[in-house]
Amino acid sequence: MKRTIHDWLRHFENHRAGWSAPDWEHLPPCRLDPERRRLLAESLAIFQIGETGGGTRLRRFVTESAGLGGRSREAVYARAVDLFIAEENDHARLLAGLVGYLGGELKRKHWANSVFRSVRTWLGLEFNLQVLLTAELIADAYYGLLARAVPDAVVSEVCGRIVRDEAGHIGFHRTYFSLRHRGRLPVGTALWGLQFQMLYLMAEGLVWREHGACLRAFGIGRAPFQSRGRAACRRFLSLPDGGAGEADVAFPASPAVDSAS
Ligand SMILES: [Fe+2]
Ligand SMILES: [Fe+2]
Repeated sequence: MKRTIHDWLRHFENHRAGWSAPDWEHLPPCRLDPERRRLLAESLAIFQIGETGGGTRLRRFVTESAGLGGRSREAVYARAVDLFIAEENDHARLLAGLVGYLGGELKRKHWANSVFRSVRTWLGLEFNLQVLLTAELIADAYYGLLARAVPDAVVSEVCGRIVRDEAGHIGFHRTYFSLRHRGRLPVGTALWGLQFQMLYLMAEGLVWREHGACLRAFGIGRAPFQSRGRAACRRFLSLPDGGAGEADVAFPASPAVDSAS
């Protein structure tokens, strides 16, 4: 299915319908054992920091340099980016509720998040989105695997919701990159793909280092974590648009998305 920037704007406008957050005040207590609850709450609290933020720099980059070949398309893109940021902020609220449900504490700072935020600002919009994308591809693995492995319906539901949203975010960015890459020679696209994969592998190693203990506690080894994340990365990179213009192929839903919906 072909998707345009306009399609993504409609996607974000319609996306919130039909799902509401758990009623955190009235849930039965979590029955996970204390050690696994602690590990999960700490891990989710780190991801929660990454979902916060008003997107000020991203909005500024979009205004200055969207480079999508037309003012009206760029205006639509800017509106879609606002809704994309709002959806990420929804994730922050959901994760804050989930950390509380697990009996954990939210964090205000974490070194990995500080690195992630400063790296994003180095090279303008395209690089900013690339760094975001690596996080979203990894999020597909992290939340998707947790949704299936954690024996708790609330955790499963929230992780399933986030992974569904992230599949849309990845598709949205894919359309943006297709537009940006129009007219590039295959070698340019190949070099871009190479540096993107290197960035992805660095992020993957970092995330496993910080969150591997939590994932292992739920029986998720490094191999399935790598396998699912890299599958998402391959799907993203295997849809090159050699100049097809505005239209693009939607990022396919991941297995957990299908199972969660
Ligand atoms: Fe998110
Ligand atoms: Fe996202």
